[in-house]
Amino acid sequence: MPRLLTTIRALREHLAPLRGAGGPIGLVPTMGALHAGHAALMDRARSECRVVVVTIFVNPLQFDRPDDLARYPRQLDADLALCAAHGVDAVFAPDSSEMYQREAVCTIDVGHLADHLCGARRPGHFRGVATVVMKLFQIAQADRAYFGEKDAQQLAIIKRLASDFNVPTMVVPVATVREADGLAMSSRNLLLSPDERAVAPVIAAMLREAEKQIGAGLSDPAAIIQSATALIPPDARLRLEYLEIVDPESLQPVAIIGGPVLIAGALWVGSTRLIDNVTAGPHTRG
Ligand code: PAJ
Repeated sequence: MPRLLTTIRALREHLAPLRGAGGPIGLVPTMGALHAGHAALMDRARSECRVVVVTIFVNPLQFDRPDDLARYPRQLDADLALCAAHGVDAVFAPDSSEMYQREAVCTIDVGHLADHLCGARRPGHFRGVATVVMKLFQIAQADRAYFGEKDAQQLAIIKRLASDFNVPTMVVPVATVREADGLAMSSRNLLLSPDERAVAPVIAAMLREAEKQIGAGLSDPAAIIQSATALIPPDARLRLEYLEIVDPESLQPVAIIGGPVLIAGALWVGSTRLIDNVTAGPHTRG
């Protein structure tokens, strides 16, 4: 079993003698309810680092809806077992009062990177993500930190955060892990009823359709978005929040597709909001 640490001081004391000699320290930040997507991050960290630390913290600062925070799945025992199975050395699972000993007065504004996609629909969400990730960077002072491409806007923001603040931790992206039917693994999939789970993969199908059209040479985002969203069947449980085609770094919409793009969408399935994305464009072909 990994060492379970719940205070910042205990984590720092655990890591102090492991620094420097013998190879990098790897950090895998999560909110728990761990699945094979998280495990891919752990495995990558395990293959590259001497010490692997997983953090499990459901960060209140990044939740824009109180019901979403209340409903978010929590299962520490199962999470520890999964971490053990993937050779994780330590799990840092603080409670809110440990992470936010006082109300956070200084937070990190991510500027135009939150103007589109999830940022436009979840006010303050990426400020909360950037703030907690910066705190975790400072607390662990790891050599590498692993983040999933599943959350593409989050990844782009964290890369920029690390660069803008000269964070010495290297940000390592890891490809999205999917279920056999294409649905991206997510802790929120646990909230779907069997009926909802059956229709949920349409979000991935919609993205594949847009990717196919771009691969075939179509370059008008509006037309591509229109035909991709047409795949969503009329079903009262399904509500598209957005499908957008943006520049992968600036996260701004593109007028004509002439280079690599990020195609990202959010779909409500009942009362659960799912997100997914793919990259497409000339650089990804062949
Ligand atoms: P969480 O949703 O638990 O995800 C933790 C990490 O796992 C993120 O980097 C996410 O992109 C990655 N991940 C989730 N599902 C994945 C999948 N199917 N394939 C590959 N990687 C996947 O993202 C967060 O937590 C939080 O916002 C956090 C960064 C921890 C800050 O609170």
